[in-house]
Amino acid sequence: MSTPVYDRYRAAFVGAIAQALGQQPEEIDPHVKPADPQHGDLSFPTFPLAKALKKAPPAIAADLATKVSVPGLQIASAGPYLNARFLLQPFVGEVIDQARSEGEKYGHSEAGKGKTVVIDYSSPNIAKPIAFHHVRSTMIGNAIANLYRSQGWRVEGINYLGDWGKQFGLVAVGFQEYGDPARRGEVAHLVDVYVKANARAESDPEFDERARAFFRRMEEGDQEALALWEEFRETSLRDFKRVYERLGVRFEHYEGESRYQGKMDAIIDEIAKKPGTKESEGALIVDMPYDENEPPVLLKKNDGTTLYATRDLAAAHDRYERFHFDRALYVVATDQSLHFKQLFRTLKEMGRPWADRLIHVNFGRVGGQSTRKGKLTLLTQVLDEAQAVALEKVKENIAAGRIQTDDAEKLADAIGLGAIVFGDLKNRRVTDYDFDLEAFLSFEGHTGPYLQYAHARACNVLRRGGGAPASYDPSLLTLPEELALVREIARLPVVTREATEQNEPSLLARYLLDVASAFSRWYTLGNQERDKRVLVEGNEPVKHARLALTDAVRITLASGLTLLGVPTPENM
Ligand code: ARG
Repeated sequence: MSTPVYDRYRAAFVGAIAQALGQQPEEIDPHVKPADPQHGDLSFPTFPLAKALKKAPPAIAADLATKVSVPGLQIASAGPYLNARFLLQPFVGEVIDQARSEGEKYGHSEAGKGKTVVIDYSSPNIAKPIAFHHVRSTMIGNAIANLYRSQGWRVEGINYLGDWGKQFGLVAVGFQEYGDPARRGEVAHLVDVYVKANARAESDPEFDERARAFFRRMEEGDQEALALWEEFRETSLRDFKRVYERLGVRFEHYEGESRYQGKMDAIIDEIAKKPGTKESEGALIVDMPYDENEPPVLLKKNDGTTLYATRDLAAAHDRYERFHFDRALYVVATDQSLHFKQLFRTLKEMGRPWADRLIHVNFGRVGGQSTRKGKLTLLTQVLDEAQAVALEKVKENIAAGRIQTDDAEKLADAIGLGAIVFGDLKNRRVTDYDFDLEAFLSFEGHTGPYLQYAHARACNVLRRGGGAPASYDPSLLTLPEELALVREIARLPVVTREATEQNEPSLLARYLLDVASAFSRWYTLGNQERDKRVLVEGNEPVKHARLALTDAVRITLASGLTLLGVPTPENM
């Protein structure tokens, strides 16, 4: 992968400013920002120099404008800013060539080479209803894992299953009362039993005690209890894996809280030495300063069983031993912020030098999951519903002649999945949003299907134009809409880098909407003026140049959507 065209010009601009000022490029670099689009592409504010140079910022900018020159950039001052704009040539050809030569790897880099990131995501609880936050964690985590891979990082994705804890006691004891032995292998049935048992335990202390006792037996290594646990775990896992396959999500590791059974005493002993443990109301807690009203970190309950926090402490230690990560992300709902703050703080108090490499990649809640079929709780239900609605739409569009396909079902699957994934990822992850399947599935507006459609349209133009041309003359691309589109295409590598650094797939999602609308503005020019059509008649050289640009659009959309986990059908 070569240096992105955008970065190359940016570095040249930074270098020329540094030279004119007699400073080091590193001093200038942090100040150069993307310009306000009406002023160009790159901008350098001169305020910080005013004091040292004893000159007004606009005068400094005007002076720099006479001294700074970079081939391929048009440089001018505007008030206190020094701005640079990409010139049509050679920029347009360089960007198109870069996108086309890198193909599906366009937007990737090797910035993370030699570095390792551990990503804990999805992580549903076995034999409990799968909550919508697990769906979000799966989609956000998958996009983030793809982004890190694209930047050359070694990614260790972990599905940290909630496969240990009292809930198994509830299911096991509940099964004797509410279970149908013939349906032991069905997850939906197990979930049903769990829900009933959970409600019963609330009002029936004796029942609750039996569930606890069952979990205690598991922790003590009782073979019979463990065999039943193993069976429930397998049933759930089989079901989860089917869903991940549908989502196109894969994990390097499936492991869960149960991995730490029998390994928690070691970590507790260590905590006892530093920062210390103490008893509180019969439970064992981490002895460290707490804020007023802050609940302490519990390591063992009064009946001696361990907790979520205990297992996460053991898991963090284990992951560092195995992977020596440079970063470890926990893609988990904001609701668990306190848990992670305390987890990281405990590890810091224990003197783990890597404690500040841990990041809680949190996200907000989803509202409005009630749809035509009632409240969607199981992930499969969400997907089924999306695909059913998508299929109706696809059929309508086929009937109206707007879509051509010979496999409506397959297309509906791709659209349904794209709608849900994009509907989630276009929001900044910390914001709450409402699940609105109808809106997510619209072919217009800020949706997955709109982007899939833009991509398919580019593919379609290429097919009708006889394919992507082997050679073309970039100087024939002179329309302002063509330059605007190329400027968007040039940003993909910058945006993927930024989205990775911020663990924020929405940056990429929103950027792709900008690409699609720049494409649409250019593409629709031809509706009014025949000579602006992409497949212009009677001018082969211009047609070839426009097809090459269309090819770069196709590549940009395909690469970006794939990173997000949105399928990219070529025909729709
Ligand atoms: N299973 C947990 C839940 O459903 C999420 C686990 C997140 N990862 C972790 N290391 N705590 O709430």
